[in-house]
Amino acid sequence: MKTVLILSLLCGLVLTTNQISFVILGASGDLAKRKIYPSLLRLYIDGELPEKFNVIGYARSSLTDEDVKAKIEPFIDEQDKDSPFFDHLKYIQGSYDKSSDFENLNKKLLEIEGDQPSNRIFYLSLPPNVTADPSKGFNRIVIEKPFGRDLKTFHSLSKSLNSSFTDEETYRIDHFVGKEVVQNIYATRFANPTFSRAWDSESIENIQIIFKEKIDLEGRGGYFDEYGMIRDVMQNHLMQILAMVTMDEPSSNSNIVQEKIKLLKRVKLSEQDVVAAQYQGYNTDSSVKKGTTTETFGAIVAHVENDRWKNVPIYMKAGKALDEKVLQVIVKFKSTSTLFADAPGQELVFRIQPQESIYLNTVSKVAGISNKLNKVLMKHSYEKDLPDAYVRLLRDVMGGDKTNFITEEEINVCWQVFDNLLHNLDNVKGTIAQYEKGSSGPSEEIALANKYNIDLL
Ligand code: NDP
Ligand code: BG6
Repeated sequence: MKTVLILSLLCGLVLTTNQISFVILGASGDLAKRKIYPSLLRLYIDGELPEKFNVIGYARSSLTDEDVKAKIEPFIDEQDKDSPFFDHLKYIQGSYDKSSDFENLNKKLLEIEGDQPSNRIFYLSLPPNVTADPSKGFNRIVIEKPFGRDLKTFHSLSKSLNSSFTDEETYRIDHFVGKEVVQNIYATRFANPTFSRAWDSESIENIQIIFKEKIDLEGRGGYFDEYGMIRDVMQNHLMQILAMVTMDEPSSNSNIVQEKIKLLKRVKLSEQDVVAAQYQGYNTDSSVKKGTTTETFGAIVAHVENDRWKNVPIYMKAGKALDEKVLQVIVKFKSTSTLFADAPGQELVFRIQPQESIYLNTVSKVAGISNKLNKVLMKHSYEKDLPDAYVRLLRDVMGGDKTNFITEEEINVCWQVFDNLLHNLDNVKGTIAQYEKGSSGPSEEIALANKYNIDLL
């Protein structure tokens, strides 16, 4: 694997200045157009950016400033398309492995910034095999998951980053953590005794963490085909959610990471409890390797080996080109009544996206003379449009707040949990289970869910 790309840039963060330059490396890519530029636009509209700001896109593709704007337009509101924000955008072409290109970037940045000193934030909107090899330090760098491809590549990525940036300067982003409903997991769990007292194997039958996308590869084979769905989403995003849903209550905010790590260290996966599959037609996409067996769907049953979670299966699933777009956590409670032995257990659902809400499926008597039971919903809906997670997280980077970013140790433990399983999957040559595009997933997943008596919602 290629090690780290060059970011031989520049200057320190000058806290007294009001000017800020965002440098987006990988500006031609999917994440940049879909999330980073639109989130910066949102911060601009909300008055969160200083008067003097520059957004410099950098990548190898030959693009004009107008091309970049055209790429962003499908992901922003119609009325914002003529925003003065776009006057602050500039695209610079260059490679990731030539210091002369970075010198050129630096020169252009200095021209754009003028005489006034500028804070700089470098956003690596790039796959992890393209990294940095800086010669002079600069102060805030944002890097995307997956942090490496496995434990070993994570360590070399860390070594390389740590030789140039302090931990304080490095922001490891996991945007699922910045999603509003995910941010509400702690409050729901710990500030409501009804839940906090029943949050264990005595009361909970299973937990499901489900991420389904309707979109397929959409030309992202250059990145995705090397990683696959388990590395792309499960080892990082879903593991963060798993930790937030199952960890012990921290005594204070400063203990959150410690509790997360303690929990993550107890997570165990078994090769018998994995389904990996590919949607039909994936391997005909021109951006993927010929004969690729990269998975676009993964389902795994995890267990947390501690007293609290003994024998509680945690079902994680992530897939592309499925029948619906949804991200949700379902906490299925046991049915404990003898009087109402047939009553279905309650479910607490964190509906993270779309239609963000948190709801509890409870059981109630049908009104009238009947003694039958039916399900009644208690629901907290978010009634306003919620900003994208990147808006919150980019604001945190500007403010130097690392609360919602991921520590090196958490990533290390998550790779330890997944490393063997992923290597074994990599080594399975030949075929991979298939599923139809637009379906709910491969039939193999039903057998896995049934093995643990999990009713998939
Ligand atoms: P892309 O495949 O769109 O890649 C981004 C850019 O990186 C490309 O435009 C290309 O720029 C450059 N690039 C891609 N592959 C290579 C390669 N093999 N060698 C050198 N340069 C390459 O990926 P995304 O933007 O989707 O993802 C980037 C990172 O962001 C990944 O780590 C991903 O996990 C993460 N991410 C993505 C999200 C999304 O919604 N897309 C959401 C959250 C995280 P050029 O060729 O012009 O230099
Ligand atoms: C990214 C993955 O981390 O998350 C993508 O790399 C995926 O493959 C994306 O599409 C989903 O994020 P969201 O917030 O749009 O659901």
